[in-house]
Amino acid sequence: MSERAFITGITGQDGSYLAEYLLSHGYEVHGLIRKASTFNTARIDHLYQDPHESGARLFLHYGDLTDSTSVASLLRQLEPTQVYSLASQSHVRVSFEMPVYTGIVTGIGTAAILEALRRSEVDARFYNASSSEIFGQSKPPQNEETPFRPRSPYAAAKVYSYWMTVNYREAYGLHASNGVLFNHESPRRGETFVTRKITRALAKIRLGTQTKVFLGNLKAKRDWGYAPEYVTAMVKIQEHPEPVDLVLGTGTSYSVEEFLDFTFGYLGMEWREYVEIDARYMRPAEVDHLTADARRAREAIGWDPKIRAPELAKVMVDNDMAALGLEPPGEGFSVLQSNGFDWFKEPSLKLSGREAKG
Ligand code: NAP
Ligand code: GDD
Repeated sequence: MSERAFITGITGQDGSYLAEYLLSHGYEVHGLIRKASTFNTARIDHLYQDPHESGARLFLHYGDLTDSTSVASLLRQLEPTQVYSLASQSHVRVSFEMPVYTGIVTGIGTAAILEALRRSEVDARFYNASSSEIFGQSKPPQNEETPFRPRSPYAAAKVYSYWMTVNYREAYGLHASNGVLFNHESPRRGETFVTRKITRALAKIRLGTQTKVFLGNLKAKRDWGYAPEYVTAMVKIQEHPEPVDLVLGTGTSYSVEEFLDFTFGYLGMEWREYVEIDARYMRPAEVDHLTADARRAREAIGWDPKIRAPELAKVMVDNDMAALGLEPPGEGFSVLQSNGFDWFKEPSLKLSGREAKG
């Protein structure tokens, strides 16, 4: 039988790239989507297949992580061979404003899938989208031995989901793995995460429809990689004979300030003329420095990401400029071409007029 994947969070950045990758590798893909009053499928519309057509391999199902019965009945009905648990309230700053909801979706939501899997006795491998945020203030570089010191409701919920994944493996023998992913970005990144907020604002500044961008802490350092490379690691983890917990990142890190240098500098501009600090974007507790030590992943699954933040910045600026009909320098597009990213397509993005506030 060919592989049948079930993805929660398929409408998000990672879910969309993962679906694309799996479809291009012959999988049947089922995705959980939330009912919204407007379409929330912009990132996967280019993958849409009419389910009435024979040969369709992408199917979408309504559900919500806060409704565990919907997830449980889908798992029983679909009998997937692989489950990817990617859905989450994924914004760290927002988690301070919605701590309980974040715990319910990001923490308990994962437990609900694990429990549904156990009860259904469906023989599927399980992947949990864990996060480098669980390391919090632990000193870099962080690896599989680094203590967890979560600094936000989001991170605390991710610690819970990490240990529930380990627990279901140990207690019930599930092939359940954690991918502890460091930050990964792309042209499909949510508009309120700092990299995309910057590249989107830069494109609008170039167009003349925005004059400033308001940001928070510019000193924090992150290990920023390119999202399509990370979804290939998720698949490699599922294919690993034994369940594993692996740290995934590039091993390089840069400050938000340096990311501003890469993006504005790419267009020959000085970011200090356009950036203002707004205390609203500071966090009650910050994670200062994340850098992955991903040696174990390299050995276990042969994962070795190619794209680092300086090139990623160009990829994102090129895409956000093109989305506004501007002519981008194109060095980012060349980076992707020369690294052979031939299985993904960027949907024709159209930037909304609204400024990103997150
Ligand atoms: P994202 O773009 O924010 O996508 C989140 C997805 O979760 C969306 O599809 C969203 O649906 C869905 N979702 C949210 N609440 C839900 C609910 N109550 N029920 C069902 N679905 C719900 O996140 P991402 O960047 O792709 O990240 C994927 C996963 O990896 C997340 O768990 C995130 O926490 C984790 N992670 C991300 C990074 C990173 O750097 N990107 C690093 C480490 C870990 P809507 O489209 O309807 O909102
Ligand atoms: N979002 C945002 N907006 N962040 C800002 C801003 C701003 O205006 N100004 C400065 N920052 C700083 C944040 O304080 C943080 O130190 C850094 O930029 C990165 O913020 P985000 O892009 O929001 O990402 P994150 O690191 O908090 O969380 C992301 O990565 C985690 C993995 O480490 C998310 O994708 C999480 O879901 C993921 O688990």
